Amino acid sequence: MKQPPGRPVAVISEADFERFRDHFYRKTGIHFESNKRYFVDKRLSDRMQSLGYEHFRDYFNHLRFDRQQELQALINLMTVNETYFFREVYQLKCLVNSMLDELVQHKRRGDRVRIWSMPCSTGEEPYSIAMMLLEEWPALQDWDVEILASDIDTAALDRARTALYEQRAVHSVPAHYLQRYFRPIMNNGRKQYQLKDDIKESVGFSRVNLHSTADVRALGPLDVVFCRNLLIYFDEMSRRQAAEKLFDALVPGGFICLGHSESMSRISPLFRARRFPDAMVYQK
Ligand SMILES: C[S@@+](CC[C@H](N)C(=O)[O-])C[C@H]1O[C@@H](n2cnc3c(N)ncnc32)[C@H](O)[C@@H]1O
Repeated sequence: MKQPPGRPVAVISEADFERFRDHFYRKTGIHFESNKRYFVDKRLSDRMQSLGYEHFRDYFNHLRFDRQQELQALINLMTVNETYFFREVYQLKCLVNSMLDELVQHKRRGDRVRIWSMPCSTGEEPYSIAMMLLEEWPALQDWDVEILASDIDTAALDRARTALYEQRAVHSVPAHYLQRYFRPIMNNGRKQYQLKDDIKESVGFSRVNLHSTADVRALGPLDVVFCRNLLIYFDEMSRRQAAEKLFDALVPGGFICLGHSESMSRISPLFRARRFPDAMVYQK
């Protein structure tokens, strides 16, 4: 039964946690270990309280009934969006120093080159790619480069489109990039950084769930995928399924970059590891 918002919320039992965890896993591929129980319970109970639900079973019915909207609200609360500009920059260097030059050898001048930042969270990763291409890939003008960026979290995507960043997001941005591509602004005594329009407009954002085959297929063929710091939240099975979807989405010879703590060799035998001077990446 629904209660007026603001009432104290009932405790979430072990069985409730497991029901929720299974449901969320089936929808997103994200697997919460038992040690994430506090994190999950806190967000679940805050959400129940803000909607006025006292009992988990009532809320869970609402979640299952009102599938898309409530699930999306919970996804936005449960995902970890930690990111910053020029994170694991050695892979961005590898993109402009090695991967792209090798990829375009199999294309005709002027052809499209498609780079996908997935998950892009609040946009720092795809925008870093865009700046890096402009500054450090001399062949850029010869190709029709498209930078796509996706995430399952619609609130993160809204922030990505706004492209207004706090100091901590830009701490690794080289000074000349900061000067060229950002406009510092003061907001209530806080310094923030607004990305300039030409970079903002060079990235196309969309909501994609990596756990959904239809979502990934809709993207069409890709040359490079940055899939960094997402698979750590998946279990073994959803990681393997994700690897298969990414494999299907890539052109032959296409590359995939994972986060530093993720290893494709432990996930799937589909890709081969390629060691370039800047980084190790995986190739279809
Ligand atoms: C830690 S961020 C990584 C951002 C960036 N790639 C980086 O390495 O800095 C993880 C992101 O994965 C997204 N995510 C989680 N599950 C997802 C799924 N099934 N499909 C797409 N994105 C997902 C989250 O919303 C979150 O923004």
